[in-house]
Amino acid sequence: MAPWWYTASSTLLLSMGAVAWPYSTYTSMPFQPPTLEINQTGVSDPGYIFLGPRGSVQSAGQAALIYDNAGNLVYEGPEEVTANFRVQTLNGSDVITFWAGDMLSLGYGYGTVHILDNSYQEIHTITLTGPFITPDNSTQDSYIDLHESHITPRDTLMVTAYNLTQHDLTSIGGNSSDWMLDSHFYEIDIYTNEILNSWSALEHEDTIPLTSSHQKVGNDVGTQDAPYDAYHINAITTTNNGYLVSLRHMWSGYYLFHNGTVVWQVSGEDGGDFQQVGEAGFSWQHDMRVYNETDSGLVLDLFNNANTPTDQESVTTGVSLSINTTNMTVTGLRSLSDPNDPIHSVSQGSYQLLDETDGHVFMDYGSISKVKEYDGDDKVVFSAQFGDDNDVASYRGYRFPWVGTPFWKPSVVVQRTDEGATVFMSWNGATEYDNWVVYSATSNTSVTTQQLSSANRTGFETAVNVTSPPTDFLQVVARQGNAVLGTSEIVTF
Ligand SMILES: *[C@@H]1O[C@H](CO)[C@@H](O)[C@H](O)[C@H]1NC(C)=O
Ligand SMILES: *[C@@H]1O[C@H](CO)[C@@H](O)[C@H](O)[C@H]1NC(C)=O
Ligand SMILES: *[C@@H]1O[C@H](CO)[C@@H](O)[C@H](O)[C@H]1NC(C)=O
Ligand SMILES: *[C@@H]1O[C@H](CO)[C@@H](O)[C@H](O)[C@H]1NC(C)=O
Ligand SMILES: *[C@@H]1O[C@H](CO)[C@@H](O)[C@H](O)[C@H]1NC(C)=O
Ligand SMILES: *[C@@H]1O[C@H](CO)[C@@H](O)[C@H](O)[C@H]1NC(C)=O
Ligand SMILES: *[C@@H]1O[C@H](CO)[C@@H](O)[C@H](O)[C@H]1NC(C)=O
Ligand SMILES: *[C@@H]1O[C@H](CO)[C@@H](O)[C@H](O)[C@H]1NC(C)=O
Ligand SMILES: *[C@@H]1O[C@H](CO)[C@@H](O)[C@H](O)[C@H]1NC(C)=O
Ligand SMILES: *[C@@H]1O[C@H](CO)[C@@H](O)[C@H](O)[C@H]1NC(C)=O
Ligand SMILES: *[C@@H]1O[C@H](CO)[C@@H](O)[C@H](O)[C@H]1NC(C)=O
Ligand SMILES: *[C@@H]1O[C@H](CO)[C@@H](O)[C@H](O)[C@H]1NC(C)=O
Repeated sequence: MAPWWYTASSTLLLSMGAVAWPYSTYTSMPFQPPTLEINQTGVSDPGYIFLGPRGSVQSAGQAALIYDNAGNLVYEGPEEVTANFRVQTLNGSDVITFWAGDMLSLGYGYGTVHILDNSYQEIHTITLTGPFITPDNSTQDSYIDLHESHITPRDTLMVTAYNLTQHDLTSIGGNSSDWMLDSHFYEIDIYTNEILNSWSALEHEDTIPLTSSHQKVGNDVGTQDAPYDAYHINAITTTNNGYLVSLRHMWSGYYLFHNGTVVWQVSGEDGGDFQQVGEAGFSWQHDMRVYNETDSGLVLDLFNNANTPTDQESVTTGVSLSINTTNMTVTGLRSLSDPNDPIHSVSQGSYQLLDETDGHVFMDYGSISKVKEYDGDDKVVFSAQFGDDNDVASYRGYRFPWVGTPFWKPSVVVQRTDEGATVFMSWNGATEYDNWVVYSATSNTSVTTQQLSSANRTGFETAVNVTSPPTDFLQVVARQGNAVLGTSEIVTF
């Protein structure tokens, strides 16, 4: 079989023979998250940074991660491949959501969507069962693809899925019963896991013809283990009248009625059903989002990769478009890129409008292991790198305010020194504490304790030295001011 970089569809694998990413270590927790290199060049909007990094050689630190603006780790989830790790609103409350599962070199995945409350308790686990056909006929516990985990205003979950099927590809130079990937989406009831609506691109071949695909049928695709990826669905959101779906390999977004019928197509190549005004082009895009929808149009934001491993169109940009369905024009509103750091991202990526008033946008560059925040004047105010480009990727990346109060206790590890002991303290995921108090206990069950030391929080882990502790039992308390937020176990050293 051809190496992965021969086909533009194989966009999730990273380059081989890579070096490990720079990472941080701690004494109180066994974590090795990527170290962030940060350039703060202006004032960023409030919030933490949410990433799901993956590397080709290192699995420690491959997890859902939250960092603060100084690059301190705030939360590390279980070691697993994740996507779409972010804050969303469910029934009026902030929750964190992410996909976890297996990413295939074919450019999609099989997994499950997890929804956690602000104590990191898993409150909903969303799955999708078959019948789906896979490249090796394997059956999966859940067929939800990695590309979308979007909670709608009606508290349903939008997900994507890829199904293999045999189809006549002679119109585009293939064979009459070639294997291809069909792009599906599902709207799922979060409380019951029931499928409320579903859609298949191939069922709309009349309005989304295969001949429109920018993905070409080479001799290396068309078999069950190398199916042709005509559409490559990667974003799906609800609209006033139905849905808006992004098909990367069509360089297009499609507005659909609730019954799946295509209402209109906006193409980054030639506008599709619209006349392009100004800079309204895009290609190989990700993360299409709808804002300000009215009867005469909407604003469409997207991450314009403009590149694949085999096709370089232009520099990757963040794009905002005004779509007018009365006079059928698509007008470029914004095009974001860093003139000091032109990026060509061949896969993945995201565009998050942080604040409709100040206009800040947070972008994750997918296969290039960087995030950047732009201000309302399109100037970069924050950049961070997490490992080497094309060795480490995060499918999407976000900035969100978040209050985490973990259901687990703070961690403490004590190491003896000549003078006494060094106490290492952390509380994974806790956002609200700002100082620690270290107590000596009389036994591992004692309730009366004597204060030995205190210290302000220093990032993820705080260390203090205690001299001549009166007993071999210690307990630490995480506080906000004088208010106790969390208490560790009593540990012996
Ligand atoms: C949504 O939240 C309200 C309280 O704010 C609660 O009464 C209701 O049961 C919740 N709905 C679901 C489906 O959990
Ligand atoms: C999958 O199953 C079908 C039907 O049994 C068979 O024809 C095909 O060869 C199998 N494919 C693989 C990759 O095992
Ligand atoms: C996947 O494709 C196969 C073959 O065309 C079909 O039998 C099956 O119903 C499809 N699965 C779904 C969920 O549509
Ligand atoms: C397409 O058909 C031709 C002729 O039968 C064959 O040589 C070729 O291997 C087929 N290609 C695929 C991808 O199946
Ligand atoms: C889909 O819904 C639209 C709007 O309600 C309607 O005009 C159209 O006929 C429907 N299409 C099908 C195939 O039912
Ligand atoms: C669309 O264009 C029409 C005619 O120029 C105008 O009246 C309307 O406000 C526009 N709508 C949007 C959303 O731009
Ligand atoms: C379409 O409407 C937009 C405003 O939404 C306006 O800027 C543009 O000039 C109009 N174009 C045409 C061809 O009428
Ligand atoms: C939506 O419209 C409001 C009011 O005109 C404007 O402030 C805001 O920037 C718009 N949002 C987007 C994403 O264009
Ligand atoms: C930060 O700035 C330095 C100096 O300009 C540059 O070499 C580096 O690549 C930048 N890093 C990021 C993440 O922007
Ligand atoms: C408490 O300490 C005693 C003596 O050091 C030890 O035997 C016992 O296992 C400890 N109990 C717990 C719950 O740690
Ligand atoms: C600890 O933090 C408080 C509140 O920010 C500050 O007033 C105090 O000076 C700090 N103490 C030390 C020792 O840094
Ligand atoms: C604790 O003491 C050791 C020497 O015993 C020193 O190296 C270390 O920096 C001290 N740590 C703190 C947090 O003060």
